[in-house]
Amino acid sequence: MDIRVLQPSDLPLIQHANLENLPENYFLKYYLYHALSWPQLSFVAVDVSRPKKTPYDYPKIVGYVLAKMEEEPTDGVQHGHITSLSVMRTHRRLGIAEKLMRQSQLAMVETFGAQYVSLHVRVSNQAAIRLYRDTLGFLTEKTEAKYYADGEDAFCMKREFSDIREQIDEARNKEEGESADTTEHQDEGEPVGDVGKAADKKRKVKVGRALGVGELVERDETHKS
Ligand code: ACO
Repeated sequence: MDIRVLQPSDLPLIQHANLENLPENYFLKYYLYHALSWPQLSFVAVDVSRPKKTPYDYPKIVGYVLAKMEEEPTDGVQHGHITSLSVMRTHRRLGIAEKLMRQSQLAMVETFGAQYVSLHVRVSNQAAIRLYRDTLGFLTEKTEAKYYADGEDAFCMKREFSDIREQIDEARNKEEGESADTTEHQDEGEPVGDVGKAADKKRKVKVGRALGVGELVERDETHKS
């Protein structure tokens, strides 16, 4: 399984997966808006076990997460939002949704400095609620009555990113420490490549008068006549 960033050419397949898996569906242009506005945040899971037979075969997409940054956050805090997540029935309980969500969350912090991520989920959707709450650490903020078109309520869930920001800082500090170490310690191995070639033997060359340059200097002929 390959988890990679969503490309605009994946959009019809994502739309197809969404229609298969969820009652909340969108126009293709809404997917495109996500892909063009926040290209770092949406991911797809591609089944690569059956390689392409021709260059025209489309990838077998078995899951996706469609995510965005909240454009006008009411609380004034920069944060991400999960618009839609689904995994095909044939590929569920393999950890795909968890991986898609973790990739998107990391990208929200790394790319946009998001402080948290939010989402809505149907109060009856036990599988998704368990994924968000138990596996990913989301908390239920409030219930929005009749959020969905069919009248079902939604849980508004939220996950803070303080732990992810700490992990990123730690990794950066470690990287900086390692690069400082490598400049401190001299390479103890034999020199290789051009550096390893024996330097040309030094030879003396004549310059200036010794080379007869004096002959080229314009002579002062004024005293001759
Ligand atoms: N029952 C109970 N817990 C579940 C279930 C389930 N059917 N599915 C996932 N979980 C929980 C478990 O804790 C699981 O860990 P475990 O397998 O070690 O027990 C954990 O979530 C991780 O599961 P994944 O394998 O990563 O989840 P999966 O890839 O199967 O996808 C998803 C879960 C997305 C909810 C899938 O069932 C699906 O596509 N459902 C239909 C669409 C949907 O409901 N999408 C979410 C709507 S909300 C929104 O889009 C913002």
